[in-house]
Amino acid sequence: MGEFYIVNPLIERYLNDLFPVRDKVLKEMEELAERRGFPIIGPVVGRFLYQLVMVSRARRIFEMGSGFGYSAYWFAKALGDGGVVVCTELSEENVYLAREFFRKGGVEKKIRLYTGDAIEVLDGLNEEFDIIFNDIDKEYYPLVVDRAYNKLKHGGLFISDNVLWSGRILNESDSSPATRGIREFTKILLSHKGFITSVVPIRDGISLSIKV
Ligand code: DHB
Ligand code: MG
Repeated sequence: MGEFYIVNPLIERYLNDLFPVRDKVLKEMEELAERRGFPIIGPVVGRFLYQLVMVSRARRIFEMGSGFGYSAYWFAKALGDGGVVVCTELSEENVYLAREFFRKGGVEKKIRLYTGDAIEVLDGLNEEFDIIFNDIDKEYYPLVVDRAYNKLKHGGLFISDNVLWSGRILNESDSSPATRGIREFTKILLSHKGFITSVVPIRDGISLSIKV
């Protein structure tokens, strides 16, 4: 078994067509992702994150691997005044693009943006968060679990992208660092005593953990 879509593409398109994204900046980001083949979370997961901010009444979000800001933009739109999304991204070009998109969307006041390694930035902060969203290079996913636990408030949410990895996690002959990283991560996360976790099979699989 190789790579496959977790959600039938016809279903994905059906849902996207029912809930068109009207925000001009999000549209522009989606077009940029399409042109560059850059992996954004897309509108289905974006709306889900938006809802999670609403139900949890989160105010402080830490994002690991922000790309050019697509998921942070959804988070920022969902946050009330005074809320903050701390973004981390290695690529200077992506950081530049993200700043432009945040400014255009009028959310820049809710954003703190670090150019650098997400794990190093998190390790260097003496702060607690309501939500930590993880979308870094997949081989490093196992390193994130305890760090996220330590930096979350009680009842906080730890959310990770790509945990079903287009089905590659099922392929035992796939021992690439990324696939192994995700397999190991999911195993650690689901047996972690400090988290209650579900895997939600939307897009490429989202893990949703509550710190208990
Ligand atoms: C890849 C990374 C992602 O974060 C994603 O959502 C999809 C693909 C990748 O590295 O291939
Ligand atoms: Mg991702």
